[in-house]
Amino acid sequence: MYSFKNDYSEGAHPRILKALMESNFVQEEGYGEDQFSINAIELLKERIGRTDVDIHLLTGGTQTNLTALSAFLRPHEAAMAASTGHILGHETGAIEATGHKVISIDALDGKLTPANIQAVLEAHPDEHMVKPKLVYISNSTEIGTIYKKDELQQLSHFCHENNLILYMDGARLGSALCSTENDLLMTDLPELVDAFYIGGTKNGTLLGEALVICRAALKEEFRYHMKQKGALLAKGRLLGIQFLELFRDNLFFDLATHANQMAAILRVELTKANIPFLNHSPSNQLFPILPHSVIADLESKYAFHIWEKVDDDHSAIRLVTSWATKKEMVEAFIDDVKVNIYSV
Ligand SMILES: Cc1ncc(COP(=O)(O)O)c(C=O)c1O
Repeated sequence: MYSFKNDYSEGAHPRILKALMESNFVQEEGYGEDQFSINAIELLKERIGRTDVDIHLLTGGTQTNLTALSAFLRPHEAAMAASTGHILGHETGAIEATGHKVISIDALDGKLTPANIQAVLEAHPDEHMVKPKLVYISNSTEIGTIYKKDELQQLSHFCHENNLILYMDGARLGSALCSTENDLLMTDLPELVDAFYIGGTKNGTLLGEALVICRAALKEEFRYHMKQKGALLAKGRLLGIQFLELFRDNLFFDLATHANQMAAILRVELTKANIPFLNHSPSNQLFPILPHSVIADLESKYAFHIWEKVDDDHSAIRLVTSWATKKEMVEAFIDDVKVNIYSV
């Protein structure tokens, strides 16, 4: 059984493990005050091109989202997200459990636009309702789409004009930035969003996300929020060591590029076999639509999510490639699809 279920099926890139092993007996301060974390944060600031941002290392996406959003919002304020947004459907109400409503927006391709945020603002005119304050976007999105620079600029401008906080969930930021269709740079992000995180868990680390807080007003006392939410690790060094290795050279981008290249092979070859896709996703997640009989056969050899029923005979499945996906398994999957599809 080979898995295309997600991008966290394997452990960590060997270089990350080596760095952890080599530093194993070094005695260090706790709670992120170790030299590894301090150096990793300095390095990340260099890569982002800004020394005035605050960076915190946390363990996972849900933890980062709930710690950040609950810290950024006042009690009556709400977040807005595309209906496909991770905080809406896949985080067990973690944001709501901190007291903040998450307003769902039906959005084309999982992306938000000024127009659909404007509609939410108009529907929440006064203090008898929650105050929509934070715009949650993910890049790449939960359905594999990416924000182009002009789309993000428009959102950024709108949020600025309307005094909203723009937050980018970057669980798959590597894949988004390394997409052949991407025109955003890591250095553009602090100019355009108020906070974002750089996902390590889905791009080669054992675990870890680096939260970058760009807007000064959101920085205050963030470590208190982290500690209260269980996000300040005594062995914070584990995160520092991993991000240091990931950004020491081009590893972060190389790993994401590999994931995207494996997805591109799947996309090209399945398209050649006349298999339609649910949407256009130029990153490491693909949603081909296959007959149920073909899906059943594939399930005996491969793991993947069945995403959405399309009609009585077809469903879209989700294929996710990662930094560790083997090219020969991508080719084997394509061959198996072709054999099955031609016998339908
Ligand atoms: C966009 C996005 N954000 C956040 C997360 C949550 O990450 P975790 O499962 O580490 O809490 C995921 C995980 O799939 C994700 O895809």
